[in-house]
Amino acid sequence: MAARVRVVVMLFCLLVFLIPPSSAGGRKLEIKKHLKRLNKRAVKTIKSRDGDIIDCVRVTHQPAFDHPMLKNHTIQMKPSFHPEGLFTEMKAPSKSHKRSKPVTQLWQLNGRCPKGTVPIRRTKREDVLRANSISRFGKKKHRTFPQPRSADPDLISQSGHQHAIVYVEGDKYYGAKATVNVWEPKIQQPNEFSLSQMWILGGSFGEDLNSIEVGWQVSPDLYGDNNSRLFTYWTSDAYQATGCYNLLCSGFVQINNEIAMGASIFPVSRYHGSQYDISILVWKDPKEGNWWMQFGNDYVLGYWPALLFSYLSDSASMIEWGGEVVNSEADGQHTSTQMGSGHFPGEGFGKASYFRNIQIVDGSNSLRPPKDIGTFTEQSSCYDVQHGNHGEWGSYLYYGGPGRNPNCP
Ligand SMILES: *[C@@H]1O[C@H](CO)[C@@H](O)[C@H](O)[C@H]1NC(C)=O
Ligand SMILES: *[C@@H]1O[C@H](CO)[C@@H](O)[C@H](O)[C@H]1NC(C)=O
Repeated sequence: MAARVRVVVMLFCLLVFLIPPSSAGGRKLEIKKHLKRLNKRAVKTIKSRDGDIIDCVRVTHQPAFDHPMLKNHTIQMKPSFHPEGLFTEMKAPSKSHKRSKPVTQLWQLNGRCPKGTVPIRRTKREDVLRANSISRFGKKKHRTFPQPRSADPDLISQSGHQHAIVYVEGDKYYGAKATVNVWEPKIQQPNEFSLSQMWILGGSFGEDLNSIEVGWQVSPDLYGDNNSRLFTYWTSDAYQATGCYNLLCSGFVQINNEIAMGASIFPVSRYHGSQYDISILVWKDPKEGNWWMQFGNDYVLGYWPALLFSYLSDSASMIEWGGEVVNSEADGQHTSTQMGSGHFPGEGFGKASYFRNIQIVDGSNSLRPPKDIGTFTEQSSCYDVQHGNHGEWGSYLYYGGPGRNPNCP
């Protein structure tokens, strides 16, 4: 035993000797610096049972204020305006057979962040090591917006991203809302992901596309596990140099001390079992021009300052709701990574995943059901979407699927 340990130690020394110190040490130092930039000094630290560490960081010390354009920014502690509409005050329908329950975040079982701080999921060394490069950490690898109009299937499937969504376009939009069923879809390869979100898009689908995205995702590469997590994304140049997930770059200004971006959602829905959903609202403050985000009925999380964007500093031109997965075809077949619940829309409530009460914020800053909804999916035999309109669910969709199956080889 001792001899074996000695051999291992010797091998290790040999390896250290063989690796040029400049590159290994350089990367190590680079990672250390990047972590120091991302992880701000905490007033209090909470350990979550999923392994996450939540740092309670003073609101004035959060990553947003590293942004050169936000150096003199006066933080807005609340929006000057909150859109109202048909379903604004409605809680989950309790007498309906379609019963769902409100959800929270797992880390909250282990503590709370004090007032004047914001909870931030700490980035660990392993998180950065899983990324291909430090400069791309926390950013999307491809331009991955569903582009219903230019639906050339060959072009779209090349990037390996697949969608099942509904959308509206052709008007000026000032926000969007939805209540989203939360599941924990299975991911086949660690470099794939499965997400369910709203896209708030501005500009053409060119190099300068503006996008704000909010929803839940399972992404082993980004988080190191298979949990469903609340996430946001933003970009003002079609996913090139600007923007990132959550608070992994400077931009989003958080004001809320109860909800952490990137934290696990708890509990999640089970097939034929209890259903859980989250309501998300993104809207543009007509006075300051900032884009605000709210989680559930009670948590205003914060805002993306108007100056981060070009087109979105005026309004959005397209809104999309639905799912996206990466199909890497690692074994030469379609991936078995699931979207939504992993079941097709036709199975309905308790089995297929849904968005209900989808609404847009119109030119008079009111929430209303979207008109002239389009649906889009690249391969409906792999992942599909169905839109409907009914009673207290308003405008809704079922979406998702299992990926690989006899009709999707
Ligand atoms: C911030 O304020 C200082 C002093 O007034 C000024 O010199 C600087 O240009 C401002 N920076 C930005 C990004 O507005
Ligand atoms: C995530 O799920 C995959 C299979 O879907 C499994 O191989 C992997 O071990 C899981 N990862 C973790 C961290 O639980």
